[in-house]
Amino acid sequence: MGATVISMKDVTRVYKMGDTEEHALRGISFNITQGEFVAIMGPSGSGKSTCMNMIGCLDRPTSGIVEIDGRPTEKMSEKELAVLRNKTVGFVFQQYHLIPSLTIVENVMLPLRYQKIEKSERLPLAEAALEKVALVGKMNFRPHELSGGQKQRVAIARALVTRPKIILADEPTGALDSETGKQIMALFNEINADGTTIVIVTHDPRIGAAIRRCIHIFDGKIKADVTQTPVPFTGDSPDSAEKPRILAQPQRAQAVQAQPRRAPGQPQRQPAQPRPPVVQVRPPVAPAQSSAQAVQPQQQVVQQRAQKQMPDLATLPPAARNAYINGTIK
Ligand SMILES: Nc1ncnc2c1ncn2[C@@H]1O[C@H](COP(=O)(O)OP(=O)(O)OP(=O)(O)O)[C@@H](O)[C@H]1O
Ligand SMILES: [Mg+2]
Repeated sequence: MGATVISMKDVTRVYKMGDTEEHALRGISFNITQGEFVAIMGPSGSGKSTCMNMIGCLDRPTSGIVEIDGRPTEKMSEKELAVLRNKTVGFVFQQYHLIPSLTIVENVMLPLRYQKIEKSERLPLAEAALEKVALVGKMNFRPHELSGGQKQRVAIARALVTRPKIILADEPTGALDSETGKQIMALFNEINADGTTIVIVTHDPRIGAAIRRCIHIFDGKIKADVTQTPVPFTGDSPDSAEKPRILAQPQRAQAVQAQPRRAPGQPQRQPAQPRPPVVQVRPPVAPAQSSAQAVQPQQQVVQQRAQKQMPDLATLPPAARNAYINGTIK
């Protein structure tokens, strides 16, 4: 079991609007360990983006504890939060948020410009990130010259360029067709295979089924937290897509592939067909851990250099930040 990189304990978020209160999160708790790939799912307005904002330290909880990379965030100043966020998290949004006046490679280099990384190092790092998303050939294009899927791949390269421990993606395939969504999911799987923790918000059940762990939020509360054998996202319609099988009993999450039961003395049967995907329900999380967690050596090197991550949303006024997050800043 890897180190806990995200820990939420009894987190609430209440938005106050005049006399009315909007309870966006009503006490949610979960732990995510290094290298996990997690989907946060739920209907519109259920609190998914609010939850993501908590994980990304873009917003503070009304109550509860958020620990990122083993560090409690409650008492951190805005500046400390920005440093933690910039060292640890890469963001991908539905609307890409590329800067239209910059070329692709300039967009990807941007986070490095706001870190104390030498100018001469920025280009090779950005090229390596673009290589990862197979877009080196477009590096001198501008965003409007790219398709939606290509723009999203650039946004992923920008998130990757600082080699963050965690990538948070809010509806990353929401603006894309199924085939392009499939490519983006394949890319996230590759990135996850390299050890990066990924959390994706989605309302698409086919995306949810393609991700090993799925946290379902409903009305600001966790309705289910399941681990499953992922069903690859093919872009098929929800009706024709294969569905994971859910086991009702709470069990520990890592034993995903259930073994067939057999009576003592009975010979083991060979499964004639591929086993259907299995889903297991997570037990309630343990209390948040506060000790410092191990850091992968490669990440450590980059993190020492990576003091800031662009866009540094914490430095924006709240209205601009919300506009940025909600995709109204082009
Ligand atoms: N800045 C805000 N001020 C007031 N209420 C807010 C604010 N942000 C979110 N909310 C409210 O909190 C609740 C949860 O919103 P949130 O954006 O987290 O939902 P969501 O699950 O991401 O929905 P969607 O799938 O539509 O993106 C909603 O009722 C929303 O109206
Ligand atoms: Mg949302």
